[in-house]
Amino acid sequence: MATKELGREQWGTRAGFVMAAIGSAVGLGNIWRFPYIAYDNGGGAFLVPYLVALFTAGIPLLIFEYAIGHRYRGAAPRAFLPMARPAQAIGWWQVAMCFVIGTYYAVIIAWAVRYTGFSIGQQWGDNPEQFLMSDFLQVADAPGMVSSYVAGVAWPLIGVWVVTLGIVALGVRRGLEKANQIFIPLLVVLFLILVVRALFLPGAEIGLNALFTPDWSAITNGQVWIAAYGQIFFSLSVGFGIMITYASYLHRRADLSGSALVAGFANSSFEILAGIGVFASVGFMAAKSGVAVDQVVTDGIGLAFIAFPQIISTLPGGATLFGLLFFGSLVLAGLTSLISIVQVVVSAVQDRTGMRRGPSVAIVGGAIALASILLFPTSEGLYILDAVDHFINQYGIALAGLVTVITVGWLLRKLGMLKDHVNASSAVPLGQWWTITLSVITPIILGWMTWDSLRTELSTNYEDYPTSFLLIAGWGVVIGVIVIAVLISLIPWRRSVPDSEHFHLNTVEQEAGSR
Ligand code: ALA
Repeated sequence: MATKELGREQWGTRAGFVMAAIGSAVGLGNIWRFPYIAYDNGGGAFLVPYLVALFTAGIPLLIFEYAIGHRYRGAAPRAFLPMARPAQAIGWWQVAMCFVIGTYYAVIIAWAVRYTGFSIGQQWGDNPEQFLMSDFLQVADAPGMVSSYVAGVAWPLIGVWVVTLGIVALGVRRGLEKANQIFIPLLVVLFLILVVRALFLPGAEIGLNALFTPDWSAITNGQVWIAAYGQIFFSLSVGFGIMITYASYLHRRADLSGSALVAGFANSSFEILAGIGVFASVGFMAAKSGVAVDQVVTDGIGLAFIAFPQIISTLPGGATLFGLLFFGSLVLAGLTSLISIVQVVVSAVQDRTGMRRGPSVAIVGGAIALASILLFPTSEGLYILDAVDHFINQYGIALAGLVTVITVGWLLRKLGMLKDHVNASSAVPLGQWWTITLSVITPIILGWMTWDSLRTELSTNYEDYPTSFLLIAGWGVVIGVIVIAVLISLIPWRRSVPDSEHFHLNTVEQEAGSR
């Protein structure tokens, strides 16, 4: 039985919470996204905008989300509700986005599960690209209506969902906390072995030089700054509602700012470690095949599932072990993020309906899993995943972040109160800088990012996909989640919820009514 305070589940220890926050942050984005983004945006010089983004947006936003979750003790919708009734729509927006992100995030983990198996004897053969696209994913020639189902992706995906929902069903302490306490140290050990092995590969220094040689002219390029802020957002899991939800399970007295600093630094350290491991391997490949580093580096799916298999097959020895370490790390990093994404939806529905965790996981988690299993292991799945991921990141997470800081900071003027709340129990006191970054710097950067992406989006079709396809898988999803969020927020909350959680809605609604 989980420890409860005011009827709400709680983390067993502060370390358990910090580990879970790190688990959520360290994900697929750290291993495949950071190395490529850093390389593409000035190499070593990228670290300057990256660190500025970490301190002016990442950590302040992390503390902001912790403060909201901890102060109002609810998943995102219930946390926003007492600030002002309509503000709960922002919470539902984040919940709806987590629903969508969960459906495809699990798919990439399922690929990594399969590739862990394919690593034994390097079953992808001599042409990993053809193996991925034709043999494994059986990708259709063009995006469109779903035409055939790919069983080879479906069964590992079902496995990923069974594990994920099983962990979430066990609860905050026995499920999420325990899983992170096992998976994160294991991930660090596996990944460290991989990085050390990569550093000893011939040619590793070529990759590291490519990654860390600064191109200082990049610092004056606005796009590089946008990329840095985008990476920090995705990587720290801010804007998803995850940190609000996780902080709602903290004890009354909790060191919020200290925990945010630990989680933020741990995430960035892992990210830089991933950069070193990936580029040392890429340097080896470049030296071995006599091509330039930029010909080996591709982004996302290409880097993990095409370039890495190629690198693994070329290794002088220990190829199977290296493959197991790389894909095993992807699975672990992905799972600890996926459970946090699912928890946002499960927890919000529990708050809203008074349902117990078990039925909520079965119904809500089951719905996410079903959508995921029906839609993505198909010949069009890769295109749908690519479009949904792009649009939800550009016009979902970042936009929700912008709307949140404007609503809470400018319209409802809650930053002062949240700052006092954090300072009442934290080791590192927040000063004026925190309020200024959130009310001035973050809105400007996020507004600029969104405007800049929109300009590109409206002038060229993403990846040259047909407009009809983007209207459904891109714009349709982005607008759909907003419409659903607003509709749910219009349904009145019941005045009391007869459940084991003892949620005092009267108090919450009175507070909302007094605004
Ligand atoms: N923060 C998670 C990641 O990096 C979502 O993948």
